[in-house]
This record gives sequence, structure tokens and C-alpha cells, in this order.
Amino acid sequence: MKKITVAVDGPAGSGKSSVSRQVAAMLGITYIDSGAIYRAITWFFLEKYGDIDSETPFGNGIKGLDIRQEYYSDRTTKTFVNGLDVSQLIRSEEVVKSIQWVSSNKAVRDFVTTLLREWAGEKSIIMDGRDIGSVVFPNADLKIYLDASVETRAKRRYDEYVATGKNVDLKAIKKQIIQRDSQDTAREFGALKRCEDAVFVDTSDMTQDQVVNKLTELIENQDSV
Ligand code: CDP
Ligand code: CDP
Repeated sequence: MKKITVAVDGPAGSGKSSVSRQVAAMLGITYIDSGAIYRAITWFFLEKYGDIDSETPFGNGIKGLDIRQEYYSDRTTKTFVNGLDVSQLIRSEEVVKSIQWVSSNKAVRDFVTTLLREWAGEKSIIMDGRDIGSVVFPNADLKIYLDASVETRAKRRYDEYVATGKNVDLKAIKKQIIQRDSQDTAREFGALKRCEDAVFVDTSDMTQDQVVNKLTELIENQDSV
């Protein structure tokens, strides 16, 4: 297989990360989770300042920050900040509540974009996020935009929390998803948007395996494969 770059964008709960991980494992390519980087930077600043907002000096703080990500053949990913494994810590509610300040900051976005491009290097990759097809890899071989109804996405997140023994409220999760959708689409830089050249897949009534098959088919039909 020749080198291929696949960009997968879409809102929270559309299935980007689970589907991309599975596709990567099936094709033997690397999966890169860009959202984990924004989460890791948010975690770092929360640790540093306790609380963050639009006034936090992110631009100075990220200089020299050592962020790494490792992808394993069992489809898992680990993210490290200055050598510390933060993979679990970055999944907290606190991180999600504050992430908008970090992901709307231009200096942070430029830092992350450079990092993601470096990581991809000469490898075949599938990367998911919000601005992968629009900003990080505008010349990706294949761009996918995954979406699903808010109800479906909220229920998926709810089921995930319940499976890990967490006591959560479906209505509150739906509200949080709607709020994050508007933050992600409204920001000035790196906003979530459906690129004209992206293949749109509404996953509302599709199982994860059906979406994986659809993406694998699209990738295999690329000229470069
Ligand atoms: O998994 P989930 O969809 O909840 O989110 P994620 O992919 O882990 O991303 C968390 C947040 O990081 C998003 O809501 C965005 O605000 C931000 N993000 C971004 O700004 N750009 C990306 N390429 C990826 C994530
Ligand atoms: O990365 P993103 O926030 O877009 O979504 P995800 O974390 O990959 O998916 C959220 C949940 O929905 C996971 O538990 C997936 O297994 C599930 N899912 C699903 O039920 N049906 C799909 N077609 C895709 C994902």
C-alpha cells in the first residue's frame, strides 16, 4: 500500500475515534487522535493555573511543552505531557468544560497543527478531529465528514459512561454536546466544518462496523492505495 493520509472530521459522538482506530488496525496504518492533544494541553494549563479562560497566556505556556502520542496495535492510544501518561486524566469533565479556551486560541492551534504534521511524517495515517481536512491536511488523499443526530450522539456518550459505571444524566449530556457543537463551529480559527471535498457519512442509523466497512471501501478505492 502506498502512503495515504485520511482526514476524519465531525462533531462529538459522531464515531470518529472508534471508527478511525478500527480502520487503522484493519489496514495496518497509524491512527492519530488530535482531540487528545487539545485535551492534554487543557489538562496541562488546568494543572498550572487551577482555572483557565480567554485571558490565560497559552501562547507563552505551550513553548517547550513536550507532548507525545503512541498508538499500539491493540488500537489503544496513549498521550504523554512532559513524560507523564495523561491518557485517562484528559477524559475528565473538567477538561471538557475548559477546552474551548484552549481550542479557540490561535497560538495553540498553530502549535498543534505543526505537531500533527510532524507526527504524520512519511507514514500512512488516519487522523480524526475538527479541522484535519480543512487546516492540518488540506491535501489529504481522502476526507471524511462523519455526523449523526444530536440524540444519537448523546445516547452513544451516555452508553459509554454507563458502561464504565458512571451515573450520568442523558439530558445533561445532550446539552453539553449541543454546547460543544456550537463552540466548535463558531470559533474563528480551526472551526469544525464540512469541507466541500469531504465524503459525508451520516452514521445515525449505522453500526460502527458498517461505518468501518464504508471507510475501508472508500480508502481501498483511492488511486494511491
Ligand atoms: O471525543 P470528542 O468528540 O468528545 O472530542 P475530542 O475529539 O477528544 O476533542 C475534544 C475537543 O478538542 C473538541 O470539542 C474541540 O474543541 C477540540 N479539538 C479541536 O479543536 N480540533 C481538533 N482537531 C480536535 C479537537
Ligand atoms: O470520536 P467521536 O467523539 O466522534 O466518537 P467516538 O468516541 O468514536 O464514538 C462514541 C461512541 O459511539 C463509541 O462508544 C462508539 O463505539 C459508538 N459508536 C456507535 O455506537 N455507532 C457508530 N456508528 C459509531 C460509534
